[in-house]
Amino acid sequence: MHNPRKVLVTGGAGFIGSNYLLHVVQKYPETAYVNFDLLTYAGNLTNLRSIESAGNYQFVQGDVADHAAVTALFAEHNFDGVVHFAAESHVDRSVLDPLAFVRSNVMGTATLLDACRTSWTKGDSMRTDVRFHHISTDEVFGSLGSEGFFTEKTPYDPRSPYSASKASSDHLVRSYAHTFRLPVVLSNCSNNYGPYQFPEKLVPLVILNALESREIPVYGKGDNVRDWIFVQDHCEALDLVFRSGVDGETYLVGGNAERSNLNIVETLVRLVDEALGRQVGTGKALIRLVKDRPGHDFRYAIDCSSIARTLGWTPRFNLDDGLRETVKWYLEHRDWLSAVRDQTYLAYYAKQYENR
Ligand code: NAD
Ligand code: DAU
Repeated sequence: MHNPRKVLVTGGAGFIGSNYLLHVVQKYPETAYVNFDLLTYAGNLTNLRSIESAGNYQFVQGDVADHAAVTALFAEHNFDGVVHFAAESHVDRSVLDPLAFVRSNVMGTATLLDACRTSWTKGDSMRTDVRFHHISTDEVFGSLGSEGFFTEKTPYDPRSPYSASKASSDHLVRSYAHTFRLPVVLSNCSNNYGPYQFPEKLVPLVILNALESREIPVYGKGDNVRDWIFVQDHCEALDLVFRSGVDGETYLVGGNAERSNLNIVETLVRLVDEALGRQVGTGKALIRLVKDRPGHDFRYAIDCSSIARTLGWTPRFNLDDGLRETVKWYLEHRDWLSAVRDQTYLAYYAKQYENR
């Protein structure tokens, strides 16, 4: 068991990081959490309003790739755990600006690992009462055909600048474990959905566009398949992996919920129609098949039997309930959607979709 006293959470103002902090800050009052986040377009402190004055929570703005800032942070706090979410996370943006992904995801992870190595080495030996948890993605394994599943043994085959940068960071984490005996755990998860997701990703984008009666872009034929997991299920798995996982192990986390993109989009627009009391079919009429994403991976699917066997974790939400809850959340938080849908967002959206 890893029972940390002070944990650095990077990227805690983003989608998964904020859901994770909302879960653990209240659950573990004896553990102090420092949220270190650059507040890029994807970071939003309003997500964390309900814990901002908790005695065991603190926010520090900064860049994980900034060596001086990370060194100062480790000098000020005596961390015995790191949970590393911070990353550029959107595949389409990695096509527009690959180097931003190399900087944050590769250099950022390397910078953090080195700060851990330096501050956790005592004389010639590495402390064993510490832990670095690296949050990664199933995209490092590449693309599946219509059959088969990713497992902990699947070879890496990243195919976008985003997935290649995440694969690089996974390799760096394992190299620090091997060479410096840094105590690490890794988890690779499938597509998350739920509250506080930035509306560049499929699920909140569809909900927002359906609400505003804007066209809903579906790439290619809409037959690409993803394995969807409700973010709360992911956060519960992360909590178990960080506290009860075995040093050096990798855990694959998935929702056991494969669907084609078109199926997800049609489900979401129907849920929005129902929630708004609109005639069913209003949302469906907004769907447009558009030019495909360059290098678009066809299918991801996770075999999560290993974490079920070793840590007793399985997802609790089925996809239909999770999507219904998600639509309800965004409808009840239209102020949140309006706040993130600012000029920067609209400029990105125009660049991304108007040529498709
Ligand atoms: P997100 O884009 O919503 O949030 C990323 C957060 O990291 C933001 O708060 C941003 O401000 C911060 N950040 C970015 N660059 C930074 C830097 N250089 N220094 C400090 N902070 C920085 O991402 P997310 O969807 O919450 O994903 C979190 C992590 O989980 C990522 O590592 C991602 O690769 C991984 N992941 C995501 C999914 C998914 O479906 N969203 C699935 C599997 C794994
Ligand atoms: O698999 C885990 C990954 O899931 C995470 O590592 C990434 O951080 C996360 O962004 C997500 O990547 P995807 O590329 O799968 O997610 P996205 O929401 O961008 O797209 C989901 C699918 O929907 C994908 O096949 C592309 C398609 N799509 C997406 C958008 C934004 C569309 O058809 N239209 C769209 O407008």
